[in-house]
Amino acid sequence: MTEILPSILSADFAHLGEQVAALEQAGCRMLHVDVMDGHFVPNLTVGPPVVASLRKATRLKLDVHLMITDPDRYAPLFIEAGADQVLVHQETCPHLDRTIRMIQGLGARAGVVLNPATPVATLDEVLEIVDYVLIMSVNPGFGGQKFIPYTLNKVRGLAQKRREKGLGFPIEIDGGVTPDNISEIVKAGVDWVVAGSAIFGGGNPAAAFAEMRQHAQAAAAVHV
Ligand code: DX5
Ligand code: ZN
Repeated sequence: MTEILPSILSADFAHLGEQVAALEQAGCRMLHVDVMDGHFVPNLTVGPPVVASLRKATRLKLDVHLMITDPDRYAPLFIEAGADQVLVHQETCPHLDRTIRMIQGLGARAGVVLNPATPVATLDEVLEIVDYVLIMSVNPGFGGQKFIPYTLNKVRGLAQKRREKGLGFPIEIDGGVTPDNISEIVKAGVDWVVAGSAIFGGGNPAAAFAEMRQHAQAAAAVHV
């Protein structure tokens, strides 16, 4: 099932509760929360208190993307705050197997993220234990960047491995998705599509969400 995950990085934080409620009303099921520490990526965003506030305000699944140098230390705090799913970067996890199992042991789903330059093959050994995989389609750190086309080859390669191994983990993509490229992205094998500026950049996040979902569902129907 194709899902669109609005990234609150581009939301109006003074009206976050209202914007999230409107998305929930429009049929949104998962929200993407970008956590940046100013070290792994050159930007700073939100911490566990924002996740805790969102947890109280919505029933949407919270997909927390940790762009931080020490995910082992902070993932438990985000799970305690209410994260349903936690994404860690392969590039920040020397003991990736342990990190995945730690997140799952705390009751959350564990996803692993690959930067554009990190090969899919770096996940070969853990594909059987991850809950999902996120392919970055921009270099992480900022909303509103341009989609990097070669990352779709990584999606196709990962989808092929998934087929060969008989696995069913969702493939997520993050960065530079627009109404114009979402069909091609879904056709390449993506299940979960993160969109920040495309959803929150205009005046009506719920309408933008509905438009993106329509494109994605039409493309998924062709893909199968
Ligand atoms: C980028 C973040 C993304 C970002 C996407 O580092 O991980 O989730 O919000 O924003 P857009 O959709 O505007 O590229
Ligand atoms: Zn993200």
